[in-house]
Amino acid sequence: MNSKRIPVAILGATGAVGQRMIQLLENHPWFEITVLTGSDRTVGRPYGELVRWVLDGAPPASVANLIVQPSDVVAEVAIALSALPTDAAKLYEPLWAAHTAVCSNASSYRMTSDVPLIIPEVNPEHVHMIDDQRKARGWRGALVTNPNCSVIGIAMALKPLYDAVGLDIVQIATLQAVSGAGYPGVPSLDIIDNIVPNIANGVEEEKIEAEPCKILGRYDNAGITMAQMRMSAQVTRVPVTDGHTALISLKSLRGLTVENANEIYSSWQAPQLVRDLPSSPAQPLIIHTHPERPQPRRDRDLGNGMSVSIGRIRSCPVNDLRMVVLSHNTIRGAAGGAILNAELLVAAGYAGK
Ligand SMILES: NC(=O)c1ccc[n+]([C@@H]2O[C@H](COP(=O)([O-])OP(=O)(O)OC[C@H]3O[C@@H](n4cnc5c(N)ncnc54)[C@H](OP(=O)(O)O)[C@@H]3O)[C@@H](O)[C@H]2O)c1
Repeated sequence: MNSKRIPVAILGATGAVGQRMIQLLENHPWFEITVLTGSDRTVGRPYGELVRWVLDGAPPASVANLIVQPSDVVAEVAIALSALPTDAAKLYEPLWAAHTAVCSNASSYRMTSDVPLIIPEVNPEHVHMIDDQRKARGWRGALVTNPNCSVIGIAMALKPLYDAVGLDIVQIATLQAVSGAGYPGVPSLDIIDNIVPNIANGVEEEKIEAEPCKILGRYDNAGITMAQMRMSAQVTRVPVTDGHTALISLKSLRGLTVENANEIYSSWQAPQLVRDLPSSPAQPLIIHTHPERPQPRRDRDLGNGMSVSIGRIRSCPVNDLRMVVLSHNTIRGAAGGAILNAELLVAAGYAGK
């Protein structure tokens, strides 16, 4: 064991997102996995024996012999990356956050007023809400969340435009991959040769309409003032393994042409603190000019799955602009997003030192 690395727990380590976290943390320069947790189904058994590994290859040797621990018993780690389902996250994440820095994928606390909802390239300053959170809750640790898997790509695409010209209306239709439903997820007879025009009975649409307004909101001593965009989302599940696509039409407050949008994107960069993090992609936003890109199978792995692709930027006869946005849902949209948040917490002095 490299004693200089920061000990990390994965909560819900056997699921689709937990496995991605393990895969992405193999050979991580700052973090070392020392604890894996699961449900009663898996507690007490060696991870390598029980896990049904759904990614390529096999579980890394470094975790294969770890014994799965209960998710409600807080372990001695500096950071806990949570891939728990919503109900379990609601119960167990605060227990961990009292002692350690929790970076969660779950939706349970994303919209809670003292819990930051962070995409490091977009709103790293929201991390300072942790000071208020610790004061109010008496925690030594912290709880930060990353957005819904579709929202990450959408909010990253909106950020440069929102800052430059303001946004009034954002209309979104998504085509979401099956891995977004976890494992085993959507029954094959529902999704092969098919499209399902609803996810979580409307709740996914509510998340896509609400979360970007918090992420693009302004943080000051009084908390977060939500961005005042009018959002409308429709979602579908499509027979793609990984990679969520969002078709966006938007109207700005101050007017926006295709030429302006291309200039805004070409001059945008993530803050320096974030560019230096180990999991930061060299290009967080990749602008495609080919008329048939981005595509999930061809473009989801750009930047090791951490880059968001934007293509078909063109004028809209109703709003100002239309575009297609693609992001890898279990990497940028989940496991990689939580890891980048954990790296931000370390860089900002909230965890690990
Ligand atoms: N998949 C995505 O693209 C995606 C994207 C963004 C956010 N998320 C969110 O990330 C979380 C995990 O999603 P997933 O797709 O990885 O789900 P999943 O494949 O169903 O995995 C769930 C994990 O949680 C554990 N678990 C289940 N019930 C538990 C309980 N009562 N107590 C403790 N542990 C329990 C399971 O452990 P056992 O195997 O031991 O039962 C498993 O490790 C969810 O909150 C989801 O909404 C997912």
